[in-house]
Amino acid sequence: MTASATAHPEGPSAFPQAAALSFREATKVYDPAAEPAVDRLSLEVPAGEICVLVGPSGSGKTTAMRLVNRMIELTSGDILLDGVSVREREPAELRRHIGYAIQQIGLFPHRTVAENIATVPRLLGWPEDRIRARVEELLAIIDLDPEEMRHRYPAQLSGGQRQRVGVARAIAADPPLLLMDEPFGAIDPITRERLQNEFLRLQREIRKTVVFVTHDIDEAIKMGDRIAVLRAGGVLAQYAPPEQLLLAPADDFVADFVGADRGLKRLALERVRDVRLWHAPAVRAGAPAAAARDELERAEVGYALLVDDAGRPRGWLAPADLGGDAVPAGPGSPVLLIDRADTVRDALSRLLQEEVAYGVVVDDDGVLDGVLSIELIEDFLRAEGRRAAEAPVR
Ligand SMILES: Nc1ncnc2c1ncn2[C@@H]1O[C@H](COP(=O)(O)OP(=O)(O)OP(=O)(O)O)[C@@H](O)[C@H]1O
Ligand SMILES: [Mg+2]
Repeated sequence: MTASATAHPEGPSAFPQAAALSFREATKVYDPAAEPAVDRLSLEVPAGEICVLVGPSGSGKTTAMRLVNRMIELTSGDILLDGVSVREREPAELRRHIGYAIQQIGLFPHRTVAENIATVPRLLGWPEDRIRARVEELLAIIDLDPEEMRHRYPAQLSGGQRQRVGVARAIAADPPLLLMDEPFGAIDPITRERLQNEFLRLQREIRKTVVFVTHDIDEAIKMGDRIAVLRAGGVLAQYAPPEQLLLAPADDFVADFVGADRGLKRLALERVRDVRLWHAPAVRAGAPAAAARDELERAEVGYALLVDDAGRPRGWLAPADLGGDAVPAGPGSPVLLIDRADTVRDALSRLLQEEVAYGVVVDDDGVLDGVLSIELIEDFLRAEGRRAAEAPVR
């Protein structure tokens, strides 16, 4: 992103890149005869983090989010943006500085993609050439070909493309805070996953503070730096990073909400490189077999790995294969290769699918790192569980 795209016409100090957001006993009562929609919600979102609001239908997620940009007015309590109450800001002015993306997306149907993206920069009075440059930059960021897409109307886009344009429009004026209400809700699972990944990649670059509403716990775990679980009546049940939520649900409601498979869900947050792997003797064809036999005696794995000159695994050798003077040239039994960067969950499902006891973990260059087994994954989960039990509940 260029410096000119991030500077604001009001002056660079008026609005930072990302704002800290603070709910202080924020409460919304629509109907005094009924329970509140949001009940004394208090939570802090550090600048640059994604806070996901998750909970069953009617738990006040959308209401809580709309209190932030004053589309809905607080009944009591307060919400602070970088320490300043939203009550002290003009609603219209506030909204120009808060990006907003929703599921039904609300692109203007009679405006082109470029005009849609340019909406807020135009309201802010950016010069035309700067707006044009920003639109081009955003089309590239969301991976839409500017030549082809710039002049299209929303009806001429797929659902996923419309969603991307919605995100581009929300971040166009580089707001310090983004509100996203089920932004990927109405999209097929494959496109949805792509949009999620795209957004996470984008977020690593733009580092906005984001409030993201979903009722899908898997999406919450994937997208959130912190997750706020709301229950009926707009009561905060737990606010914690995803790992913590899965390891130590605050109560039965949260445990039910995250699901019986929360152990598996946790594995989706861990990488194979974080697991302590077993060591298997690596042997090269033609090397003395006696040394390999010795090493095998002391190894954690009952087989040796035949590796090539670069150290890349080629096949498993059983003790019987090492009976001669020299290590044979192979081929050995096939190895299941697992990337260090894979999630433990993906690695586990491959072990189960291929019905093998061991996966061979390799680095980016395909060089042997260690051996992964289902037993190691079980140990890993147990150790994590113990750490969680010792950690303070948040
Ligand atoms: N304008 C309104 N007037 C009166 N009650 C409302 C209004 N908007 C929402 N509510 C009520 O407030 C509660 C919270 O609604 P909200 O839309 O915030 O829930 P939500 O968690 O976003 O639900 P969903 O997952 O279905 O989108 C619900 O009981 C809802 O009926
Ligand atoms: Mg809602």
